[in-house]
Amino acid sequence: MDQKQLEQAVEKRRTFAIISHPDAGKTTITEQLLLFGGVVRSAGTVKAKKTGNFAKSDWMEIEKKRGISVTSSVMQFDYDDKRVVILDTPGHEDFSEDTYRTLMAVDSAVMVIDSAKGIEPQTKKLFQICKMRGIPIFTFINKLDRDGREPLDLTAELEEVLGIEAYAMNWPIGMGKGFKGIYDRFNNRIELYRSENEGESFLELDENGEIKGNHPLKQESIYRQVLEEIELVKGAGSEFDEEKIEKGELTPVFFGSALTNFGVKTFLDAYLQFAPAPAKHRTEEGNFVEPEDEEFSGFVFKIQANMNPNHRDRIAFVRICSGEFDRGMDVTLQRTGKKIRLSNSTQFMADSREVVETAVAGDIIGLYDTGNFQIGDTIYSGKKKVKFEKLPQFTPELFVHVRAKNVMKQKSFHKGIEQLVQEGAVQLYQSYSTGDYILGAVGQLQFEVFQFRMANEYNSEVVMEPMGKKIARWIAPEQLDEKMSSSRNLLVKDRQGNPLFLFENEFSERWFKDKYPDVELTSKL
Ligand code: G4P
Repeated sequence: MDQKQLEQAVEKRRTFAIISHPDAGKTTITEQLLLFGGVVRSAGTVKAKKTGNFAKSDWMEIEKKRGISVTSSVMQFDYDDKRVVILDTPGHEDFSEDTYRTLMAVDSAVMVIDSAKGIEPQTKKLFQICKMRGIPIFTFINKLDRDGREPLDLTAELEEVLGIEAYAMNWPIGMGKGFKGIYDRFNNRIELYRSENEGESFLELDENGEIKGNHPLKQESIYRQVLEEIELVKGAGSEFDEEKIEKGELTPVFFGSALTNFGVKTFLDAYLQFAPAPAKHRTEEGNFVEPEDEEFSGFVFKIQANMNPNHRDRIAFVRICSGEFDRGMDVTLQRTGKKIRLSNSTQFMADSREVVETAVAGDIIGLYDTGNFQIGDTIYSGKKKVKFEKLPQFTPELFVHVRAKNVMKQKSFHKGIEQLVQEGAVQLYQSYSTGDYILGAVGQLQFEVFQFRMANEYNSEVVMEPMGKKIARWIAPEQLDEKMSSSRNLLVKDRQGNPLFLFENEFSERWFKDKYPDVELTSKL
């Protein structure tokens, strides 16, 4: 690939994640997108892999149960001269730090909201990470074929709860049984839901924003109501502003129904028009690596152990930031300075993995790994050293006490913990008073996987006692007095020896703050 080809290839890439609360419709919309991309031939292909409740048994079970989140970690397809790359953000039972880290590897995000429920907790958490990164966020309000909340109410909630300006690209005409379609401000048309007029699905609008000519919809009161609401939104709402979209300060909002594939294509077309191509990436020194840079660089944002239960292999997921990846190329692993040949690589499709020969910025490749890589590692070709910014640590919310079942097997216990913690599978803490080990995670699955891998890979059976949800807050060592700790705020230290409190609940945190007003507590995020 010459320089021009490289630039063109990068310009085509649109790499994003879909963020949502479970059941908002992420899987359904993903599937519709894959249908447009010609990756799956019928709806239900991805869905079929998603199964019910997560049960702990063995690793293969975990793999099976996790279905889509493993086999479809990364999905890519070509559409409208763009290379679309969707990174899955595991929700449900497999919500974990990986879900957060995935958001470090995308250039934009699509937020799916259930029109009956509005903004839910998981959406909010994931949104905050996108906001921190300042990436563009596009909103799809789903399930308009069902009765939900008023559109004005939903768009206002985006601004009030998430603190992001909202610009409605289109507006629903009714909902539930009375759902007629969307008033598409952006394309200056009305898109009819299940058109009864033999396939006529778009109505043009005139210069006043009214349907051109005669149409029965014009007689309906809901039509008048929508025109009034649009006027209201025009007057009081945000203006369309590409610069703000780019910075993640304003979210374009689309309405639709993923299940009936209504409004999804309209969304995708507009999304691809405004979503950014791969951006420059920040190094630890504060410089930037441009995606069109000749030299290859990338970073590991996720490590998946035992993707294939028949082999004890791991796959390191690498987001490419610059240059061109060629299978078999030599790169430097920044952390160790070692040279590594990248000969065993894959790219991911909805239901298969393919060997990848070349890839550019924005692409995600999977490297088979025998233990060389850690989460956050930078790899690069060329002589100039590259070290990308550290991935943030995400504050765990769930905690367990952990110990070896067999006290005689401390060595394998410590080795296992050390490696799995390094890999980023869980976070490790130690109680100040007793020295007991405590594990912290964002989601329950992380513990289950930890326990399974300890037994299988390190021959160490572990006992875990749930401590439940806690609020982790770090305190500056010079402010710490061990007497501040009580049963409601357990004092522990993290792997680097930094002290933090695990508060029972918000009440106990507030109580602490009242008692020690001069003490500054911080969360990682
Ligand atoms: P998730 O990945 O965000 O968890 O959500 P998913 O797509 O699995 O959708 C959750 C449920 O909501 C599914 O129903 C799905 O069919 C439904 N759904 C998604 N989009 C729409 C929509 O636009 N309209 C309506 N009415 N429903 C929608 P389920 O009963 O839980 O699953 P299933 O039995 O349909 O598989």
